[in-house]
Amino acid sequence: MEILITGGCGFIGTNLVDRMLQQPEIDRVRTLDNYVTGLRRAVQSSRVQEIEGDLRNYDDVLRASDGVDAIVHLGALPSVPRSIKDPFSTNAVNINGTLNVLEAARANNVGHVSVASSSSVYGANPTLPKVESLATLPLSPYAVTKLATEAYTNAYSTTYGLATVAFRFFNIFGPLQRADHVYAAVIPKFLAALKEDAPLTIFGDGDQSRDFTSIHAVTDALTKSALRTVTNGTPVNLAFGGRTSLNTVVDLLQEMHPKKISVEYVERRAGDVTHSQASSTLLESLLPDVERPEFVEALREVYDWYMGQ
Ligand SMILES: NC(=O)c1ccc[n+]([C@@H]2O[C@H](COP(=O)([O-])OP(=O)(O)OC[C@H]3O[C@@H](n4cnc5c(N)ncnc54)[C@H](O)[C@@H]3O)[C@@H](O)[C@H]2O)c1
Repeated sequence: MEILITGGCGFIGTNLVDRMLQQPEIDRVRTLDNYVTGLRRAVQSSRVQEIEGDLRNYDDVLRASDGVDAIVHLGALPSVPRSIKDPFSTNAVNINGTLNVLEAARANNVGHVSVASSSSVYGANPTLPKVESLATLPLSPYAVTKLATEAYTNAYSTTYGLATVAFRFFNIFGPLQRADHVYAAVIPKFLAALKEDAPLTIFGDGDQSRDFTSIHAVTDALTKSALRTVTNGTPVNLAFGGRTSLNTVVDLLQEMHPKKISVEYVERRAGDVTHSQASSTLLESLLPDVERPEFVEALREVYDWYMGQ
């Protein structure tokens, strides 16, 4: 079996390549990436083929997906602040790129496509936990592109019979997540600051909460979905219903870190949602055996990884 991972040289993609290579049924993995945030030769193995190409270019996507059995579509510009600054680029990569992937999958008779959407689609809807049937109220251009991504994915299933599933990722964290760019996520940014003995920056009062999800749960779910051709006509949350505030993350890190941590509270950012917590009922019905690491253990793993870098 051969699998194409778009954005396969990014944070989730690199971890997913590693996870997929553990599966004897998967002979080869291809990645398609333009390295805008991903790194070249992210995984070095004779079973991995890195293809340089742009999701906005249909021919690149068509060539990369020729002959594969399944696609995991992760490639995107994945940042709310970036999308607010430059909505055109986010729109072009995330929406047109997704359409190119689905159309290429159809043209190449690919057997299964899973796609990365985001909890940001719930946006201004305050109801917790986030059940997939809730109204979506995106607060940022990024969230709009993810809503379009999942809508296209489901439409390709109903219109063309493509086997698809769109997962709504929550806040994923783990080893290999980059902290060295302005749009980095909160846990790697905290860890990078700790390493430099700098204060941690929190936008707002730190009471905002997230359903932080270990990368291992995500790569396990994506691998099992591809192997089992898991499909669903509506998007599926990929998180487990935990809810941890940023202040609690700091407290937990303080228990691991030998020096006193200082925190700088600055103004809240536009487009950020206040609380996020998944309902995992649908996920558990589709993938009852998905890996489910404890938050504190996963935080300890990523803390040790960053400190060892
Ligand atoms: N990390 C999270 O917490 C999270 C949460 C919700 C959704 N997601 C989604 O998961 C997916 C992967 O996110 P990630 O955290 O690994 O981000 P990432 O930035 O590390 O990975 C994205 C990859 O896509 C590549 N890419 C960007 N534009 C491209 C283009 N035009 N052509 C080809 N490749 C391109 C980048 O170079 C990078 O390797 C994204 O779709 C993102 O929206 C992530």
